[in-house]
Amino acid sequence: MTTAYKTEILVIDDEHGLCTMLEAILGDLGYQIEAFTDPVKAVKSFEPDRYSMVITDIKMPGMNGIEVLQKIKGLDPEIPVLVITGYATVELSIQALRSGAFDILTKPFEPEEMLNRVRNALRHNELEEENRRLRKEIRGQEQFGEVVGKSPELLNVLDTARKIAGRDIPVTITGESGTGKELVANAIHNYSKRKDKPFIAINCGALPEALLESELFGHRKGAFTGADQDKRGLLEVADGGTLLLDEVGNLPVDVQKALLRFLQEQEFYRLGETSPTRVDVRILAATNADLKEEMIAGRFRDDLYYRLAVVKLNMPPLRKRKTDIPLLAVQFIDQFNKEFGTKVKSISPRAMEYLISYDWPGNIRELRNVIEATLAIGGETTQISLESMQRLMDVEEQSVSAENYVIEGSYSDALAHFEHSYFVKLLAKASGNVEVAAQMAELNIATLYRKIKKYNLR
Ligand SMILES: Nc1ncnc2c1ncn2[C@@H]1O[C@H](COP(=O)(O)OP(=O)(O)OP(=O)(O)O)[C@@H](O)[C@H]1O
Ligand SMILES: [Mg+2]
Repeated sequence: MTTAYKTEILVIDDEHGLCTMLEAILGDLGYQIEAFTDPVKAVKSFEPDRYSMVITDIKMPGMNGIEVLQKIKGLDPEIPVLVITGYATVELSIQALRSGAFDILTKPFEPEEMLNRVRNALRHNELEEENRRLRKEIRGQEQFGEVVGKSPELLNVLDTARKIAGRDIPVTITGESGTGKELVANAIHNYSKRKDKPFIAINCGALPEALLESELFGHRKGAFTGADQDKRGLLEVADGGTLLLDEVGNLPVDVQKALLRFLQEQEFYRLGETSPTRVDVRILAATNADLKEEMIAGRFRDDLYYRLAVVKLNMPPLRKRKTDIPLLAVQFIDQFNKEFGTKVKSISPRAMEYLISYDWPGNIRELRNVIEATLAIGGETTQISLESMQRLMDVEEQSVSAENYVIEGSYSDALAHFEHSYFVKLLAKASGNVEVAAQMAELNIATLYRKIKKYNLR
């Protein structure tokens, strides 16, 4: 809408001189300025979607800047508002921030400083635009369950998955940890005629053999010590639906045999039972091991292998489908915004570049964790910066390698501890200059003020 026109900025300041000055410096750069010396009039004639940003003074007769800010945000919640003030107390900054100010600038200021802030606010708008575009792209995608992505590598796999979802055959999904094997298995179930029946996953590597057998096939009362009543196995629980054998490479040899029988005859024996039980269950398998290698090494029955791997789907690692990263990141931001009640809207270009360049050994699960932690720590900002994210990732790596790290208190205690020392060091490095510190941390100055208050740093 604004693209064909000049970028319009609304300026509200009772001082005529300041309006003229802003008109001069911003007008020179091709911005179109609409200036009001009367805040009441300015608010009255405000139209949402018309201006790209608002600059308002705080101390004005008739209506103060905080009120102006609140009224404008009420009409156009997305618009960035830059507040200028003669005395930037922490209290005032926080009040402005709470009311939704994007940034705060203290008078007197250099024209260059004003320009930087304006550029920053407008750039922020563009980023949000970009993130809106990504969200639209996610919504416009041909859906396959919750699976997000547009890389040819992923779409290829999904194409096959969609085709075989409705055919009642076993499928083996391979891929590194965190590549979405379970997610795809679940989507296959949801795209089949079994979708209204249970989808159940069992991790074949997590249980000792005897327990695993009883979990899968169930048992009769008295089948072994401790079996004090009849128990249905997951095969029965999943009747009519789908059972995912996760980490199928870890299946003990005896269980492999019983499973093969089930795949051939659709029946099995509960432990301690002499007559077979029949159920209608589709079997899917997932593994991050090389099943063929396991088979050659004699640890996996070849007859079972050929039964299970009628169709094979290989989930590509995230580092081989980097074009999916922006979509996934935005998807996870939305997801955790909902969960935490945060309002993060975008990722800074440098932060996004970093996400794209990183190798992701833990694949999509790792990306999801990084976004989750970033929102948990810096959720009151609206934009994720490179520094906030990168430090977190470093911290994650350090705490993994630091074997003598002593865990004390909760996760949020640990985060607060980290944040506190981060901001102490940051302010020291910036010699106490909040504006410089905000720039160094790529943080909105208002956010920094909030942290200073939260941790009582001055
Ligand atoms: N394409 C995707 N779109 C959205 N979320 C995804 C995608 N792929 C994976 N995820 C998410 O990443 C996390 C890991 O996925 P999942 O559990 O399916 O991986 P996996 O391959 O089964 O891992 P593992 O081998 O460790 O069991 C889950 O939270 C899942 O929802
Ligand atoms: Mg899994």
